Amino acid sequence: MSAFLDIAAAAALLREGKLCAFPTETVYGLGADATNADAVLSIYETKGRPRFNPLIVHVADLEMAKTLAEFPPLAERLAEFWPGPLTLVLPARPGNGLADVATAGLDSVAIRVPNHPLALELIRAAGRPLAAPSANPSGRLSPTTAEQVVSGFEGRVPVVNGGPCTSGLESTIIRVDGNRLIQLRAGALARSEIEAVIGQTVELAPKDSAIAAPGMLLSHYAPRAAVRLNTVPQAGEAWLAFGASPSWDGPMRNLSPSGDLREAARNLFSMLHELDASGASLIAVTPIPMDGLGEAINDRLERAAAPR
Ligand code: TXA
Ligand code: MG
Repeated sequence: MSAFLDIAAAAALLREGKLCAFPTETVYGLGADATNADAVLSIYETKGRPRFNPLIVHVADLEMAKTLAEFPPLAERLAEFWPGPLTLVLPARPGNGLADVATAGLDSVAIRVPNHPLALELIRAAGRPLAAPSANPSGRLSPTTAEQVVSGFEGRVPVVNGGPCTSGLESTIIRVDGNRLIQLRAGALARSEIEAVIGQTVELAPKDSAIAAPGMLLSHYAPRAAVRLNTVPQAGEAWLAFGASPSWDGPMRNLSPSGDLREAARNLFSMLHELDASGASLIAVTPIPMDGLGEAINDRLERAAAPR
């Protein structure tokens, strides 16, 4: 089969929860319906990403963006750069429908309107916000042509072919924090240009801070409760189980009673939040196998258990 799809076929795939790569002005994105947890998990599987980083959610216009995030006045002004290579990190709107695995369980969301006619057409035709990291296997270069996407994934990923990307550099990421603007990632839109248009300084996030790289910092995702891995609970503790498990006389969730890692990944963030909310001082976690999505699940759990 040809790996290149027209918009209608690509939109149909995305609505079914399948992946499709598409062009933006920066790099090609590996897109999935951001409201479909299984679809987003396929991004991690396909890229071979060993951890759940929060992903950028692509929308067709400001109106669509406003259904997903809160837009303080300053964010509204920054949206003048849309469509364009600017990603805004904003407070998530409660009940926005985005899958936990798209935002990695954070209460903020990174959004942008890409400046590419085919990307906009695709988002409108799919009628969904699209989570999309660069369309390359983890650890490889970001693709700027459809052919690079095809060869990178050895033909396993369908692509909308929009020719070469004009920028080749990923979008600039700005966090809007009340009246402050903080650059989390330098990218295709220069900080000086944002400052000139908005008339305000854009700060640089301190390197290695949780704010700069929420996916990377060891203890960032920590729940309030302590977390103990590869173990069973003791009296008074909460249990995050996996696979066939006896009942437990305390707060308990099972990531997947049948031992399905995809189901476990889908449940991970919400179940950690629920056990944390139970008020238990410690969450004991059953060992999770390292195959497939297990690597990203274990990475997340190790961060939750890291000393802080
Ligand atoms: O140019 C681009 O932005 C490309 C094209 C395809 O649009 N996309 C891209 O997506 O680079 P991705 O998902 O690889 O970028 C994710 C970046 C990571 O650095 C992540 O830490 C940051 O966005 N990010 C996502 N959500 C965040 C959040 N809630 N808070 C802070 N940073 C966030
Ligand atoms: Mg990338």
